[in-house]
Amino acid sequence: MSKIKGVIFDLDGVIVDTAKFHFLAWKKLANDLGFDFTELQNEELKGVSRVRSLEKILEWGNTSLSEDEFIKKMAVKNDNYLSYITNLTSKDILPGVSRIIDFLTEENIPISLGSASKNARPILKKTGLIEKFHAIVDGNDVSKAKPDPEVFLIAAEKIGVAKENCLVFEDSVAGVQAANIAGMMSIGIGEKDVLHEADHVFSSFEEIEIDFIKKLLTT
Ligand code: G6P
Ligand code: MG
Repeated sequence: MSKIKGVIFDLDGVIVDTAKFHFLAWKKLANDLGFDFTELQNEELKGVSRVRSLEKILEWGNTSLSEDEFIKKMAVKNDNYLSYITNLTSKDILPGVSRIIDFLTEENIPISLGSASKNARPILKKTGLIEKFHAIVDGNDVSKAKPDPEVFLIAAEKIGVAKENCLVFEDSVAGVQAANIAGMMSIGIGEKDVLHEADHVFSSFEEIEIDFIKKLLTT
């Protein structure tokens, strides 16, 4: 493994616990259309763009919508999602995340965001983290959804770090696959069974020792 010189964070489910709000808002949409989907199916929505998520949900419900209805449903989902996150603050940063970000900052390691979300900037502002990022690549900057590596390749380019020297933190299967395809080191945050394709998996940032990160920066 190459020395790590830059770190890319996914947002939802990695930095903030917003993955549960995406789930709630999609579930409401499906329920309004008369069907439901499971938490296991929801794993397939993590890291995936808004459009692709709705396409998948409609497939699960054997339902189709006109183009107009599709756009309206996406807007309703996003409005619901935004209503869940209006009061987001620095208190909603997941445990252990700030400790790692602060360590990387002290070590002068550039940090980039690599998220599929179009709501990434407001979330980083609300949580007071935006200044910590040297680059932000989000759903407004990419055309291909994870597992396509586009978002991470742009994120690496923006911080001027070669892909083999990048480390990606991800909570989604699609995101871990995207990092692997990009040729970057992947660290999964979540369950080992789900994220088994990652180079390392931790159940949360609290489980990550600073020494572990230090080694990645020096060896
Ligand atoms: C992230 C989340 C997905 C979400 C996607 C688009 O990758 O993991 O659950 O659907 O971003 O987010 P947006 O905020 O633009 O709807
Ligand atoms: Mg995520």
